[in-house]
Amino acid sequence: MRQKRVLQSNGSRPIGVFDSGVGGLTVVKELIKQLPQEDIIYFGDTARVPYGIKSRQAIIKFSIENALFLLKHNVKLIVAACNTSSSVSLTALRRNFKVPILGVINSGAKEATSLTRNKRIGVIGTTATIRSNAYTKQILKKDTCFKVFSQSCPLFVPLAEEGWLDGKITRDIARSYIAPLKSKGIDTLILGCTHYPLLKKPIAKITGKNIMLIDSAISIARSVKTLLKKENMLNKNRLKGRMDFFVSDAPLHFKNIGEKFLGKELINVRKTDHGI
Ligand code: DGL
Repeated sequence: MRQKRVLQSNGSRPIGVFDSGVGGLTVVKELIKQLPQEDIIYFGDTARVPYGIKSRQAIIKFSIENALFLLKHNVKLIVAACNTSSSVSLTALRRNFKVPILGVINSGAKEATSLTRNKRIGVIGTTATIRSNAYTKQILKKDTCFKVFSQSCPLFVPLAEEGWLDGKITRDIARSYIAPLKSKGIDTLILGCTHYPLLKKPIAKITGKNIMLIDSAISIARSVKTLLKKENMLNKNRLKGRMDFFVSDAPLHFKNIGEKFLGKELINVRKTDHGI
């Protein structure tokens, strides 16, 4: 095993992706679109989801353990697909590990600041993400002229997990979260949570045509591609990558919901004792 690791060139090693559960598959979907030749190892911490309501210390601890699990699989790069983990634990992760680690906050913030015309940006996310102010800090780091308006949307994750992706109840909840942001005159809204791209339809019904929705899954996949190219770490040995999924609790729920997130059948889902 050790010898195989040494012999594998940088490029042919898999990309590691972790999330608190199934939501990070929205990022995998984009990675497959933009980097179809890459192998992917995914870890969903389904035994400990949701992260969005947990303490900072717990989120950092879980994130470090998730990275350790992926590194056992010899990944060349780690994507913290979870916005909550990216908001709270990126510094700790980078301090602890040598492989490149990308979080979703910077790429989402970068895209929003380059697209807004009136410099008024909305951010929605889990309670922990919004409480961390990670998006606001990242946006203001680019330029203090931006005005950022944030809103936590705790009911969106269970709605997405239950497959309530549209319909009256979902639209009513979306309205109560999004209408106050809309009234601030934002022209750009960051969907700062893995699950929210699934709710794009009801969200867009409230925001209307004049507010751009930033899907952090699309922007992080773009950042991964740019980094791999720059570091000459693209996988040139394959036409189509292999995907392996690991979860810390029963795989069936992950498989059923995951197929909605990924839009195709999920094979190779295995339970690991990691994390519990
Ligand atoms: N993956 C989380 C995020 O993107 C949402 C689910 C959770 O709370 O763990 O913030």
